[in-house]
Amino acid sequence: MNALPPPLDPAALGLVRPDAAGLGALAAVVGPDGVRTDEAARAAFGRDETEDLCFLPDAVVVPASTEEVARLLALANARRWPVVPRGAGTGLSGGALPVAGGIVLSLARLDRIRELDLENLTVTAEAGVVLADLQARVAEHGLRYPPDPASRDSCQLGGTLAENSAGPRTCKYGATRHWVLGLEAVLADGTRLVTGGKNRKDVAGYDLTGLLVGSEGTLAVLTAATLRLVAAPRTSLTLILPFPTLDGAAAAVAALFRAGHQPTACELVEERALAAVGRLLPLPGTLVGRAAMLLVELEGDDDETLLGEAAALEELVRDLGGDEALAASDPAEQRRLWAIRSKVGEAVKGGSIYKEADTVVPRSALAELVRAARAAAERHGLQAVCYGHAGDGNLHVNLLKGDLPAALWRERRDAAEAELFRAVIGLGGSITGEHGVGWTQRRYLPLRHPAAAIGLQRELKRAFDPRGILNPGKIFPGDAETAPGEPC
Ligand code: LAC
Ligand code: ZN
Repeated sequence: MNALPPPLDPAALGLVRPDAAGLGALAAVVGPDGVRTDEAARAAFGRDETEDLCFLPDAVVVPASTEEVARLLALANARRWPVVPRGAGTGLSGGALPVAGGIVLSLARLDRIRELDLENLTVTAEAGVVLADLQARVAEHGLRYPPDPASRDSCQLGGTLAENSAGPRTCKYGATRHWVLGLEAVLADGTRLVTGGKNRKDVAGYDLTGLLVGSEGTLAVLTAATLRLVAAPRTSLTLILPFPTLDGAAAAVAALFRAGHQPTACELVEERALAAVGRLLPLPGTLVGRAAMLLVELEGDDDETLLGEAAALEELVRDLGGDEALAASDPAEQRRLWAIRSKVGEAVKGGSIYKEADTVVPRSALAELVRAARAAAERHGLQAVCYGHAGDGNLHVNLLKGDLPAALWRERRDAAEAELFRAVIGLGGSITGEHGVGWTQRRYLPLRHPAAAIGLQRELKRAFDPRGILNPGKIFPGDAETAPGEPC
């Protein structure tokens, strides 16, 4: 992967890239250790996990406190420098890519868990805390912070807040926004803002907390959050249900919720995704060549109840053509079953450059979604691999480059993706379920929202960030770009 100059012209956005004197002023705020301009740092912070994109920032700044964040934003705002807030860079929609150059602001040093409140069952933590560390800390007290995106072992809390991250457990618990009671944030001009707190209910005025969660670094820099916790269930059971048809698997998803089951996760892996993961790890014989499988995670407080629920589920699934389930309650065995789902992304990535479309539809349209993805891909000579969070109607569709030449790939990818998203909208769905709009999906925003809704969102952006320094080029389709989503 080669790093390219940023594709957005800052001048067209009324912005300026920092010069040497500007970088010196930054160092005065965060100390010389807190600013990096070497080639290696700029290249490392010029990419995230989104395909093969990489654009060089002018500097990487790593403040050590909210106070430093505030001072450096005041400086950047006064000088109109682009500022791209960043967590661990695990995003999949280019949200952390510095597409107009400027400063990448890493929150990695704000890594303290400030308070675990066992009376109120809340935790207050800074943006740079690694999500898995936060989860482990609360688990010591029998508690759970439920959001669990696939990147949980490396992603930082701040990134999950900015992206309103989700993951398999969303099916039972809801996405990140559902768990945030309050935020500490810094506005573009350096103003410190505290929203919400520990109250479980609070309808005093507009819900700024809810608005900032999922705002993809475009409205404010989030520096800390107060999160709700729940008791962790005592036991769990993982089931893999193989299906001879895609329609059977999709019907089973609808049926199990209708029957009153409330699984923690309900994931789908269709045959091409199974084939891909089968190249990475040994698949149990019963899954080889299957049209689809569901992975269902049941959790509760006693094994007997879970076994009873699993038996009821198996019966329900058998009526829909499902085969005998694989079941595991031993953690090592559960991890082995989960790997069949969680390694799909890695398996696909290992085989080809790909473009991920993060589709979501009402649950009843799941099978139609997979068919639409295959049809859109095939019409343009590509292959689609589908997997994801069936319980939420949220499937990740990977379009594969294979050995196509780059220019032809880009042309086909864009055509297939646009066609896919039109079909998704036709099914009542949306252009992203959990990965965000960021840089790579912004051209599709007008498919999802009427002009009035986009106009209102632009007004909100202007109210928070009048100079447009925060994460320029993200979410909204723009005309300043020279190379929309071009891989380098
Ligand atoms: C997953 C990521 C790609 O579900 O969202 O594996
Ligand atoms: Zn996902």
